[in-house]
Amino acid sequence: MEDEIGKILIAESDIQDKVSELASAISRDYTEKQLLLVGILKGAFMFMADLCRAITVPVKFDFIAVSSYGSGTKSCGVVRILKDLDTDIQNMDVLLVEDIVDSGLTLNYLYRNLKVRHPASLEICALMRKPEGMRGAPEVKYLGFDIPSEFVVGYGLDFAEKYRNLKDIAVLRR
Ligand code: PRP
Repeated sequence: MEDEIGKILIAESDIQDKVSELASAISRDYTEKQLLLVGILKGAFMFMADLCRAITVPVKFDFIAVSSYGSGTKSCGVVRILKDLDTDIQNMDVLLVEDIVDSGLTLNYLYRNLKVRHPASLEICALMRKPEGMRGAPEVKYLGFDIPSEFVVGYGLDFAEKYRNLKDIAVLRR
């Protein structure tokens, strides 16, 4: 395992500090709102779990799972919903929770897909963002870290389903 894991990009303590910071901003902005956190599976599960425990206003939860039909076709814009929301989001203040924005395709697709369901508001919280975002991608209102364009694993992010359980975010050595 250690052979594949390179340098630590974001240490556990820095992740936790950032999660607290984001949760404070969210708690401040969503006072008196109908906050629904929507986690994008699977990568966002760990960020979502920590973020929600640091949020101090009432909050509801849902999850959505998408597939990009394999990495080869991702840039073609094909995204498929594997598990849709259980919740009717009409009149809810929806906050999409994403672990990483890479091309921005996933968020772009989900934002448009959820927007037509008429939520009261729709915003995005992402722990990390890479530089090559898609043009026209929706704005990330709550952003943790801008990171370099490297393959990162840990804290929910995988390589072939491995390393999601790492506490730090590290660069994959390839
Ligand atoms: C990753 C990540 C984001 C998406 C970002 O998910 O969790 O959801 O890719 O990439 P994009 O901005 O280029 O669309 P992945 O498809 O690897 O699935 P996973 O979350 O189940 O690991």
